[in-house]
Amino acid sequence: MAFQFTPAQRDQIEQLCARYPTRRAALLPVLWIVQAQEGWVSAEAMEAVAQVLDITPAAVYEVVTFYTMYERRPCARHHLQVCRTLSCWLRGAKQLTKYLEGKLGVRVGGQTPDGRFQLSEVECLGSCGTAPMMQVNGRDYYENLTPEQVDKLLDALK
Ligand code: FES
Repeated sequence: MAFQFTPAQRDQIEQLCARYPTRRAALLPVLWIVQAQEGWVSAEAMEAVAQVLDITPAAVYEVVTFYTMYERRPCARHHLQVCRTLSCWLRGAKQLTKYLEGKLGVRVGGQTPDGRFQLSEVECLGSCGTAPMMQVNGRDYYENLTPEQVDKLLDALK
């Protein structure tokens, strides 16, 4: 079924648009509304966003593909996003990612067959002083990570 905004979401979008000089400027928060409803942003949803903001689907697509906060496919239960930018890289993020790949049996970009974990690399999440770090499910930060802490964390995430 094609993606549709609910009447409440349409109201929310109009309130958002009223805060900006152009409808296009509300693109990021509108995409967030979509993701909160669906868990990801499908091609149909991108079309609906383009329509409601009066912009091209390509303009929506380029934003969705630029920011790692937006999912382009249904997510696993726990999304592990390891920062790969300079501070984290210098403090072992690459080795940490390799460790996670071995532990989960997936490559970066993959999901475990049971749908429990999804592994990604992302750019700086603003926690450089506590590198290496990863974000879980788009909100929880785990910092100064070691393989031992990763083991404990994976065990705790059911
Ligand atoms: S470099 Fe990893 S949080 Fe900034």
